[in-house]
Amino acid sequence: PKAEFVAELMAKMTVDEKIYQTVQFTSDGTVTGPKTGDNYITRIKQGKVGSILNATGAKATREVQRINLESSRLKIPLLFGHDVIHGFKTIFPINLGMASSFDPKSVELAARDAAEEASSSGVHWTFAPMVDIARDPRWSRVSEGSGEDPYLGMQYGIASVHGFQGTDLSKYNTILACTKHFAAYGAAEAGRDYNTVDMSERVLRDMYLPPFKATVDAGVKTFMASFNEISGVPSTASKFLMRDILKGEWKFDGMVVSDYTGINEMIAHGFAKDEQDAGQLALNAGLDMDMVGAIYMNTLKKSYDEGKVSIAVINDACKRILDVKYDLGLFEDPYRYSDEKREKETLNKPQFLNDALDVANKSLVLLKNKNNILPLKKDQKIAFVGPLVIDEFHIIGSWAAIGDRNGFAVSVKEGVANVLGASAKTTFDQGVEIESTKRDLMAAAIANAKNADVIVAVMGERENMTGEAASRTNIDLPGLQKEFLGELKKLGKPIVLVLLNGRPLTIGWENENMDAILEAWWPGTRGGDAIAQTLFGMNNPSAKLPITFPRNVGQIPIYYNHKNTGRPYLGPTDPEQKYKSKYIDVDNSPLFPFGYGLSYTTFAYSNLKISAPQVKFNEKLKVTVDVANTGNYDGTEVVQLYVRDLVGSVTRPVRELKGFERVALKKGEKKSVTFEISSDDLKFYNIDMINTAEAGDFEVFVGGSSDADLKQSFELVK
Ligand code: IFM
Repeated sequence: PKAEFVAELMAKMTVDEKIYQTVQFTSDGTVTGPKTGDNYITRIKQGKVGSILNATGAKATREVQRINLESSRLKIPLLFGHDVIHGFKTIFPINLGMASSFDPKSVELAARDAAEEASSSGVHWTFAPMVDIARDPRWSRVSEGSGEDPYLGMQYGIASVHGFQGTDLSKYNTILACTKHFAAYGAAEAGRDYNTVDMSERVLRDMYLPPFKATVDAGVKTFMASFNEISGVPSTASKFLMRDILKGEWKFDGMVVSDYTGINEMIAHGFAKDEQDAGQLALNAGLDMDMVGAIYMNTLKKSYDEGKVSIAVINDACKRILDVKYDLGLFEDPYRYSDEKREKETLNKPQFLNDALDVANKSLVLLKNKNNILPLKKDQKIAFVGPLVIDEFHIIGSWAAIGDRNGFAVSVKEGVANVLGASAKTTFDQGVEIESTKRDLMAAAIANAKNADVIVAVMGERENMTGEAASRTNIDLPGLQKEFLGELKKLGKPIVLVLLNGRPLTIGWENENMDAILEAWWPGTRGGDAIAQTLFGMNNPSAKLPITFPRNVGQIPIYYNHKNTGRPYLGPTDPEQKYKSKYIDVDNSPLFPFGYGLSYTTFAYSNLKISAPQVKFNEKLKVTVDVANTGNYDGTEVVQLYVRDLVGSVTRPVRELKGFERVALKKGEKKSVTFEISSDDLKFYNIDMINTAEAGDFEVFVGGSSDADLKQSFELVK
């Protein structure tokens, strides 16, 4: 019925009407670039718009849809898109935080709740998940994705798509997902947002594309082209990416939207000579919808009349857009998602707020805990200090467009009060601001800290120091925060540092001088509760880093799945120190590796076994390990499996994540964990650019981080 319905409708459409389906206008909501075009309502009345960006609210979207349906000849419903990135009203941890949970179920739950909320508020389409692999913490958008690893990125992308889209898109509570930014946006040179990308096709396919492909296989219905160029061609007009790979090889049957004014920007890239040229280049390359740029609206008809775009490519774009409108059930009921009663009952539902707390608890990474200073005891005298201790604004993070901040999100101070009740034994002082150079608040904070048994410093970045267009060259704690920590250190008390930030920071000094460090990212609406519950031991941290923490900016890019080089440096015990691939001023190792994270308890790994020393291409290898909780608390460990392909027709990474499992273990408990590896897991783009596994020797490592040392060897045989 869909094919017939859409074909019948398209038979009635003029070329202009088909082109107008490819036009997205922005409402008067958030803008993240130049605002082009006229008032969107005027354009809707002229029947010139297929989709609206950032119109939200059941009442407002119902009204805009009504205007559209009453004025347009064929009564084709509008599609409302909005960035629902880590929650809609109820905000979950930033995506990098959710990825730290190594728990696809949490990622799916967060997306499901967000879809429930957003769909009740008129939103049909989110621009998530972002599955850009990010190896450079200077890049401000590391906060929006799942970090540096393709395998983790695949699981994260699949879970997000399932959460947003559910199993039936026409249901009132599911929304379209949009995999972005296609492709390699995270590889921007020097970590500067929107910057040039140049990489081999092999690295693109092995490292950057797998999460994109995984979301196609999971049924994602839309894609967004990235702002950057790759090897000289802006993604917005990359036939190679959109027609050959996405719609060709991967058989993607959904639609592709530009990232904002990406089509217009091809003039600045030096790829299109004017707007008309940019429009025809993009459409011919397979870009179906123009977000905000007004280029398709203004130039495609002319290009069609001049023979620069064919009716076939216009039809293809129009059909893909009508298809997703059909999938959403909009032709059946264009108001299905604009229901004021449901909106009222749904936004910030208690269940969503509970889920947000649960996911936040799973996303906090314990980086250090000297002498088991954590968990804190409720009867200790504790001085809470730092610019983020009473904050309700930054704690929900960037890209939380509609999320409530002040007055709603739970601050650390409120979270502590929720755990301790009114306590005379705790003090709360800002001490310094996030960035300013004012020192006038420091003395009062230090005076209170002097009387405490332990100091908890809650510090980090401003929420808009990550997210779009916020790259940094210096990724230290900003402002006077480190200086303030230095003053606190002089008091000789134990100090716990809680970090709220959206990227790995260079915290070598902090790691040497603080007693404990809890990386809380921006943990969302219930963030303060999660932090307090963790500090006081009601939650035992279980998260792991989805991205490497460098020692300094000079080490960047630094990532665990690097190549060995011909002169690998073996570390400080390497007898040959000089002509090795290393720096002379800092060790090669990161401050904290990918996959790293502590717990209040300890885990011991033993008895790593493989089912056979050889495995055939069509067989599965079983890898089993025993994990024991050897400490004093119940806890959950993320057990990780890495492989190394020792010799290839092209060189292979020193380690690659191929499996992980969250394992809950009671104090004293031991469990056996089994993974399966097949030759599919060992595939890569070989010397002939064929995606295949190669026979030969492999190593498998299992443990609690990417530097796991339990190892077994096996051979893949024909
Ligand atoms: O979805 C975003 C994208 O990630 C960055 N540019 C704007 C889009 C729509 O808001």
